[in-house]
Order: sequence, then C-alpha cells, then structure tokens
Amino acid sequence: MNRKTFLRGVGLGTLGALAGPSIGCATTDNAHGIKVDLPDYSASDDASFWKAVRQQYLLEPDLHYMNTGGLGPASRPVLKVFTDVMHHNQTISEHDHQSFGGARETTAKFFGTEASEICFTRNATEGNSIIAGGMKLEEGDEVIFENHAHPGGSGPWYNQAIRRGVVVKLFEPDTESVEGNLARIRELITSRTKVIQISHVTAPTGILLPAAEIAKLAQKHGIWFHIDGAQSAGMFPFTMEEAGCDSYATSGHKWLGAPHETGILFIRKDRNDEVIPIAAGSYTGPIPMDQENNRLIADANMTYVKNATRHEYGTRNAASILGVAAAIDFQNEVGRERIAAHGRALSAQLRQGLQKIPSIEVLTPERPELCASIMGFRTPRISYNDLLRVLAAQHRFRLRPVSEQGLNSVRVSTHLFNSAQECELLLASINEIVRKA
Ligand SMILES: Cc1ncc(COP(=O)(O)O)c(C=O)c1O
Repeated sequence: MNRKTFLRGVGLGTLGALAGPSIGCATTDNAHGIKVDLPDYSASDDASFWKAVRQQYLLEPDLHYMNTGGLGPASRPVLKVFTDVMHHNQTISEHDHQSFGGARETTAKFFGTEASEICFTRNATEGNSIIAGGMKLEEGDEVIFENHAHPGGSGPWYNQAIRRGVVVKLFEPDTESVEGNLARIRELITSRTKVIQISHVTAPTGILLPAAEIAKLAQKHGIWFHIDGAQSAGMFPFTMEEAGCDSYATSGHKWLGAPHETGILFIRKDRNDEVIPIAAGSYTGPIPMDQENNRLIADANMTYVKNATRHEYGTRNAASILGVAAAIDFQNEVGRERIAAHGRALSAQLRQGLQKIPSIEVLTPERPELCASIMGFRTPRISYNDLLRVLAAQHRFRLRPVSEQGLNSVRVSTHLFNSAQECELLLASINEIVRKA
C-alpha cells in the first residue's frame, strides 16, 4: 500500500523532551507528534481509505458501532498520547499544566478562534452549565431552547430556574425549513429573553439547526446566543465566526474522538466578562492578598483572568487535554471535510434504504441544510427497544434508542470508522426484522 506517514505536534509540553522513544514516533525532530498511517485518499477506491481509518481504532472488528452521538471511540494515536502523557506525568508526579498552551492553540485553530477564547472542560454539560450558571440573570429572565434538548443542555437551565427563577421557554424544532425554526424562536422572544440556546445538531433525531441565521436573530434583539455543540464538533467543519455564537460548548468524547471526560467551551473574548465563574480557584484569577506579606485579605474582591481559562479553576488531567489536541490533529490528518462528507453520505445511504422498507418513518429532515451524520427512524411494527435488541444480538449493531419526546425511535450515527458495507448490512437486517414483525 502506498502509505503516507503523518507527523504532527500536539504541544506535548515537557513530555516530548523527556519521554524519548516511548512516544513511538521520535524518528524526526518532531518528537512531540502523533503518527497516523493511512493510504493516500483516492475517490475511486475510497473504501480502502476508510478501511485503513477503521484500523486506527481498537473497535472489535465485528462490532458495528454507530453510536458516536452517545460516545465516540478515540483512535489509537490519540490513546497513545493519552496513555503516554498519563504515564509520564505519574513517573515524575507533575500535572504538566504548562503544556496546555499548545493544546489550546491547536483547539483554537480548529474552531477559528483565539486561544484565549478556549476553555477545557470535562464534558459538554459542564460547558453549558458554566454559561447558564455564570451569566448575570435575574428572576423572570427568560431562556429559549428547543424541546429536543439533551439533559446536558436543558438541565443547566432547569437548574437555574430553581436557583434563580430563570424562565424556560421551549420551541419544537422545525424539520421543514430554516425559516420555520426562526419563526418558532422569534415568537417566543420577549423583552425578558436573555439567552437563546440551540443544539447545533439535535441529539434525538439529528436535526441540524441553522446556527448562523439564529445568531443574526439573537444579535438583532441583543440576546446572548449559546450553542450546545455536543453533536457538531468533529462531525463537520465550521468556525465559531460562521456559527455566529457568543458561546459554544461541546464534548471531546463524541465526534471529535478525544478521551472520555473531555470538553471544550468557547466564549467570545469581547463577552468573556459577562460570564462569572461558577467554580473558582488557582486558575480563575488573583485571590486578594496583602502583597507585602503574601497573606489573604478578607475585605477585597478576587479578580478574574481576562480569558476563558478563568473557568478551568483547579488541577486537570494533562493526558485528557493533550488527548483533545491529538484528536484534533487526527481529524485534520484524515481531513475534516472528508469526514463530514463520509458521515453524511452514509447517512444518506441509510435514508434511501430505510425509505424502501415498508412502515419505516424517517424522522431526520431530508433537506441538506437541516441534516448531517445522524439518522433517526421508527416503525409501528416493532418497538424500538425490540428492534435494537435483535440488531444487537444478530449482528452486534450498537445504535441508540430514543425515548425522548415520546419519539420511540432509533438513532444511527455514521462517522469515519463506519462503512457503506455495514450500512448495507444494517438496512438488510432492519428490512428482514420489520417484514417478519
Ligand atoms: C446535544 C447534547 N448536549 C449535551 C450532551 C451531554 O454531553 P456530555 O456527556 O459531554 O456532557 C449530549 C450527549 O449526548 C448531547 O447530545
């Protein structure tokens, strides 16, 4: 095979200098890099390319893993960075906080932001909570979000309803048009609306909501626009400028393929001061001290650092954070546009096949501007739980049951390690099960 070796730095801080050959790719002076062995991409034989991508994962060969929307596996190079950093930092018992700068730069570049606008979190829920809990809101202030929101997106606001009397307003996502979604949000806006939040891609059925257009609407009314991007980062490329949001939270451990318990929060630098940390500590900002004798002062305020790192507060796991950077590098090496097109093509393949199976109702919108790499469907002939049970037992398909909003449906996530072949197998299996039901 005509193989190409990619080497790329992920900002491994002291690790690269100290770890020597244990990194595994120390053959050039780019000793801090990840190594990804892939054939050159050829459109005429893209199956070989995606097969090689699949081999970059520990996924068991007979497991048809199509639940990236729930949890995405990390590739071997990412796991190598994670375990090497973890191991190295234990051998010297250091936290390696100084290495976060490189990871932040890599992450910022990925989203077209400045490093100062990026905060590393533990998951998307934490990012959403920082925004919901940190904004200056008063009793009666309103937040609008869609009724398909995941608990990690809705919970932070329901929590603020209890804590501060914030009023939640819900819209049903429109599956027909961008304008339909705008109209539904528009009619909920009042003088008390302080925040509009959307899931960039909704979790239950994969509706791609029109972020840029909603951003304009929010801006026109002076309303903060927050995106819960748990289902978009790593699914398709975009910049924060294109999304038009004031803040954006995502998981690392889904479409990005970063280690478990990782997340990213973006806050626009000119709005950073509007989000007061909900947890404060060593990295939040200077604690009031008497400068002469270095003792705490009781009657003065702490100040917050000017960038989004103010929300990182205490000790973090460098392995996880460098794992995020490695995951981003891995995506860049495979090709972000290519990953998006592949996931989308597989999803379209599923749609076409599902539409031919009697009784199947496809729930994910068809319009390209409203869908991406998630496909939702159901049938009245068999319960979604039974269908998933048989698919898992027969062919080890790992899909996601969707009980939210009484949808009683199935969600299929198609990502870079999935293939047209396994989509065909899935369709054939569903066809057989449904016809027999
Ligand atoms: C839209 C959305 N928001 C938030 C979450 C929660 O993500 P995390 O577990 O990273 O907090 C999910 C998880 O599926 C999700 O789909």
